[in-house]
Amino acid sequence: MKAIQAALLGIGTVGGGTFEVLNRNSEEITRRAGRPIRIVTVADRNLEHARKVVRDRAQIIDDAFAATQDPQIDIVIELIGGTTVARDLVLSAIEHGKHVVTANKALLAKHGNEIFAAAQKKGVMVAFEAAVAGGIPVIKALREGLSANRIQWIAGIINGTTNFILTEMRNKGLSFAEALKQAQELGYAEADPTFDIEGVDAAHKATIMSAIAFGVPMQFERAHIEGISHLQSIDITYAEQLGYRIKLLGITKMREQGIELRVHPTLVEADQLLANVEGAMNAVLVQADAVGKTLYYGAGAGAEPTASAVIADLVDVTRLHTSDPEHRVPHLAFQPEEVRELPVLPIEETVSCYYLRLSVSDETGVLANVARILAEQGISIHGIRQIAAPAGATRTDVIVLTHETVEKQVNTALAAIEALPAVHGAAVRLRVEHL
Ligand code: HSE
Repeated sequence: MKAIQAALLGIGTVGGGTFEVLNRNSEEITRRAGRPIRIVTVADRNLEHARKVVRDRAQIIDDAFAATQDPQIDIVIELIGGTTVARDLVLSAIEHGKHVVTANKALLAKHGNEIFAAAQKKGVMVAFEAAVAGGIPVIKALREGLSANRIQWIAGIINGTTNFILTEMRNKGLSFAEALKQAQELGYAEADPTFDIEGVDAAHKATIMSAIAFGVPMQFERAHIEGISHLQSIDITYAEQLGYRIKLLGITKMREQGIELRVHPTLVEADQLLANVEGAMNAVLVQADAVGKTLYYGAGAGAEPTASAVIADLVDVTRLHTSDPEHRVPHLAFQPEEVRELPVLPIEETVSCYYLRLSVSDETGVLANVARILAEQGISIHGIRQIAAPAGATRTDVIVLTHETVEKQVNTALAAIEALPAVHGAAVRLRVEHL
């Protein structure tokens, strides 16, 4: 059968990996797809680099828009990244009747609603397995494998850079700045690591998972995002002593009143599988009503792991290329007319357990006052620990672990606690999830 023709936009790390794996495994991939898949055009601004990777195996151009308009192209693979040119390219490809495969999480989290609506109108597919957790087929699992279930919540380590940094901080006792430097030297973190360390990349991915798990539009602008740049080594140490590890989790939960969508450093019990995902690896834990918990683990980034997801999408699109658009898997897992506008709850309305670290004067009545204020807000204490102050010290750390409570009650309690004369500075507040 005639090969399906693809244009690859951007031949950086993932583009190069995709080109290589598609060539290397072409026989196996053709046996699966039912016809060969050929990248016939590669568009990249850096023609010299593109020539080095591609050699004479495809046409090389520097105008990606020409590829989105080329009548010979069936599938456009967008691996340029960003949300400006990439958005225009994806919309142009759709407008010209091409299917799209993309790894661009930022683009989908911010403009997915517009892109999927355009694709729906044109009867083309937009596939995005590589956008979340790199090589782990978690989009496939959420959209298809779990379609019998009501999905209740998802909690994932979906940013390898921050997981590497947190692992180094815990294992080697490094500060955040030292661990970040090491991540940059080893090539895990970008020169500008802001999106990773401030939780934005994880929030893009959590937004996408939330939409396909619950059948709601992409609501990235409503996600609560906290990164790890303010995390102190002392809290990693105290958490460890209390039987927890700190992970940057992307969390989305279905609650009666709406959806929780949040990214933040989180204490997870040390014996949980998720707590033991180390280095740059990713893992996503899904709780669903029929199947219970399922866990998806693997490489969340890198040339060939991400290429694995891109090519799986190419195979899916190739198999369904000639099918009736109404009988394909819907973009957001739910039929478009069934996608519902459920609100994302403000962070003050979310429910969690908390780790609170207070710096207090080591004197009579401090703990009694703290306990009284928590009780006044209906916050139940799960555990409390005073770190023995060294001889001669007048201040000491007190750690309080709470049971589940609504965040706004913690805010009110902390304002009152921080106003006590015996409490010094702002409390450190981290969320705890019992998964
Ligand atoms: N920068 C991401 C990470 C990979 O560190 O996991 C691409 O989303």
